[in-house]
Amino acid sequence: MRKKAINGLILAGITLAGCNTDTTNSSQTETGAASTAAVSTPDPIRGASLFATNCAACHGQEGMGSDQGPPLIHRIYQPSHHDDFAFYRAVSGGSRQHHWQFGDMPPVPGVSVKDTADIIAYVRQQQRRAGIE
Ligand code: HEC
Repeated sequence: MRKKAINGLILAGITLAGCNTDTTNSSQTETGAASTAAVSTPDPIRGASLFATNCAACHGQEGMGSDQGPPLIHRIYQPSHHDDFAFYRAVSGGSRQHHWQFGDMPPVPGVSVKDTADIIAYVRQQQRRAGIE
């Protein structure tokens, strides 16, 4: 009886950690090495869901563009033309219309530096898959 309850608790904990990306960091703080990795290694999977929430409305599903904004999976945004700094700058400060006719990009509030690093990892991964390096 008691054992069953404990198993249930452990299961619930695993399910929670697996579903909610926000708990990833807190669940990893128990082991120092894992939490350091979470801070220093950009996570393209987390980036994909942050992109869907914060960027896809304009840049399209999977960064392929929409009627509100340009595709980021595009040669213009390859690393040699728009390096990672361009992403941090656009997210925190917005970007004036200059390459396209969609208007200005407003700053995106609530997206941290770590969030942006993960989004960049995701976008670069998608670019590489499309042969854009
Ligand atoms: C409200 C619409 C909108 C949202 C939301 C948005 N963008 Fe943009 N973004 C734009 C438009 C429009 C441009 C193109 C401006 C131009 O060059 O004409 C742009 C340009 C950019 C650029 C290029 C900046 C440069 O230096 O030329 C980057 C990088 C970028 N967006 C990243 C992002 C990321 C990452 C997110 C999500 C965190 C995001 N954007 C959310 C509309 C948006």
